[in-house]
Amino acid sequence: MAPKIFLTGGTGYIGGSVLDALVKQHPEYNITVLLRSVPDNFISKYPSVKIVRGDFDNTALVADTAAEADIVIHNGNSKHEPSIKAHIDGLLRNSTPSSPRFLIRLGGTGAIADWADPSFYGEKNPKVWNDVQDIEELTSLPDTALHRNIEKIVQKAAVDHGDRLKCAIICSCGVYGPGKGPGRTQSQLVPVFYDEIINNTKRAFYTQSGGNTRSWVHIDDLVAVYMKLIEAAAAGGGKADWGLQGYYFTASQEVSLLDFATAVGRILKNHGIIETEEPAQLPLDDIWKMRLATKWRYMGIYAFACNTRTVSERARKILGYQPRAPNLFACLEEDVLAAAGRRA
Ligand SMILES: NC(=O)c1ccc[n+]([C@@H]2O[C@H](COP(=O)([O-])OP(=O)(O)OC[C@H]3O[C@@H](n4cnc5c(N)ncnc54)[C@H](OP(=O)(O)O)[C@@H]3O)[C@@H](O)[C@H]2O)c1
Repeated sequence: MAPKIFLTGGTGYIGGSVLDALVKQHPEYNITVLLRSVPDNFISKYPSVKIVRGDFDNTALVADTAAEADIVIHNGNSKHEPSIKAHIDGLLRNSTPSSPRFLIRLGGTGAIADWADPSFYGEKNPKVWNDVQDIEELTSLPDTALHRNIEKIVQKAAVDHGDRLKCAIICSCGVYGPGKGPGRTQSQLVPVFYDEIINNTKRAFYTQSGGNTRSWVHIDDLVAVYMKLIEAAAAGGGKADWGLQGYYFTASQEVSLLDFATAVGRILKNHGIIETEEPAQLPLDDIWKMRLATKWRYMGIYAFACNTRTVSERARKILGYQPRAPNLFACLEEDVLAAAGRRA
């Protein structure tokens, strides 16, 4: 029987792209989405998708809808605790060892970012996290790690109910490329860098040597990881790892901030948006003053001075994941122009 899927974040960049792929690749799936507002084109684009109107804070609704699903795919605000608990409560209602339910949750490599360690601000940290070799460390990160609150909830559920609740965390790195969903189609990091240049520095920028390095993945490759996991869940678990081992990085490449800034500076200069192509080397103090409106004092450091280096071994080994999309530099001009409001 076709699986019943409950997806959140369907108007978002990542969740929307997953929804679009699911509808196109698996028209037989029975899909329900949680939306707090319905985009104009949604019903005509996805006539077979059932809409439940609500917010993550409406936990009774989230739990009741999850209870009807075989597979929950939870995207959206990755730090929201009540909604993940509600999904788990709902999924546990009807699950049995002979008919387990599945929870696939979007996380982020903020979990392993070295923002708390000043020794590598603006410099390359030699530590590269591997989702197979480092799994014990990854499943016991300190409580101060980003996303840890949610990962602990998911991992506890996986340990307590692993016979009937199969959990996986897709721990995505920075994503690029145009999204395919009905709502947001831009990722986060390129617009944030663009915004800082236009409203503050007037030049692309880096700090220290600019060696701090981030892993990246194209949205189409990230969606490919999702699809493989969802298809495994639909087959009763398939060859995928679930539970504590169900932790998947998605990276296809890594790029230093200096290389990123150099490329962005060139694109902006070529399009007449800034005057100087060469990125500016800023003092760390300037980076500390960035993104303070987010209310997290490390946000500038996190966005522009720290490292998130990951290797996606598990998805390659277990799911046969092979990133195929063009690399970041091949897509950067389109993403920068989208951030500048010059892409349709
Ligand atoms: N993009 C990246 O590079 C990246 C990489 C790794 C991890 N992440 C993390 O993954 C998550 C999703 O990323 P994204 O780029 O897809 O973000 P996004 O485009 O902003 O999408 C967020 C989605 O979540 C929904 N949402 C948020 N709060 C909600 C609530 N309280 N109730 C119901 N729906 C809610 C939004 O609905 P509305 O349309 O109604 O607002 C939207 O559909 C974020 O937490 C992000 O930090 C992103």
